[in-house]
Amino acid sequence: MGCNIAIDGPAGAGKSTIAKRVAKELSFIYVDTGAMYRAVALYLQKKGIDGTDSQAVADHCQEAEVSIRYEDGEQLVILNGENVNACIRTEEVGNMASKTSANPAVRAHLLNLQRNLAEKNNVVMDGRDIGTIVLPDAQVKIFLTASVETRANRRYEEYLAKGEKADLEDIKKDIEIRDHQDMTREISPLRQAEDAVLVDSSNMNIEEVVAAILGIYRDKV
Ligand code: C5P
Repeated sequence: MGCNIAIDGPAGAGKSTIAKRVAKELSFIYVDTGAMYRAVALYLQKKGIDGTDSQAVADHCQEAEVSIRYEDGEQLVILNGENVNACIRTEEVGNMASKTSANPAVRAHLLNLQRNLAEKNNVVMDGRDIGTIVLPDAQVKIFLTASVETRANRRYEEYLAKGEKADLEDIKKDIEIRDHQDMTREISPLRQAEDAVLVDSSNMNIEEVVAAILGIYRDKV
């Protein structure tokens, strides 16, 4: 098994930014599992499937063949042979992913890919259930969170920086709905693993969070 760092937490807590930075510092690979759920959601959405129709989601999710590749240290998500990185970062796909990821067939479909990556490589893997289900033996587990206001503000700033239109109240509502869906689902709900260290980034900048996680890693390994 590689050395594994699991980072879980709610939408907009900064997991991907932080995980990417920590991976770079340690020369580990960064694995973004949310992107995999987004790719499956994109496939189902394009097929016109209702994300809450569990039978249809279960019947069709296997058709979405997901793999990842790295280019200049960046994770590319490949869906049925096509790089879909540019199409999965929308609120629409995120909301669909939040619904379809509650389906056991979707989770089972992606679990092996995630475990294989962690088996063969030193990884920083981020998601919702990495410390609890995917990598219960990870050497370091972090539960990264922040207040709803902080998370909504960060997303809002991200959209503005990309030159996209955004509405702060809508983003906040979406985050609350997604938190609720992710935390109350029956299978693999978002929760802090018993042996995870809680990091609340509401009043911390990126540098401080990265330094805190590297410190936790060095204490443990
Ligand atoms: O992290 P990100 O916002 O890209 O994830 C999109 C959705 O995928 C989440 O709202 C969550 O429902 C789902 N997800 C999950 N398990 C993971 C990672 C993401 O259920 N390990």
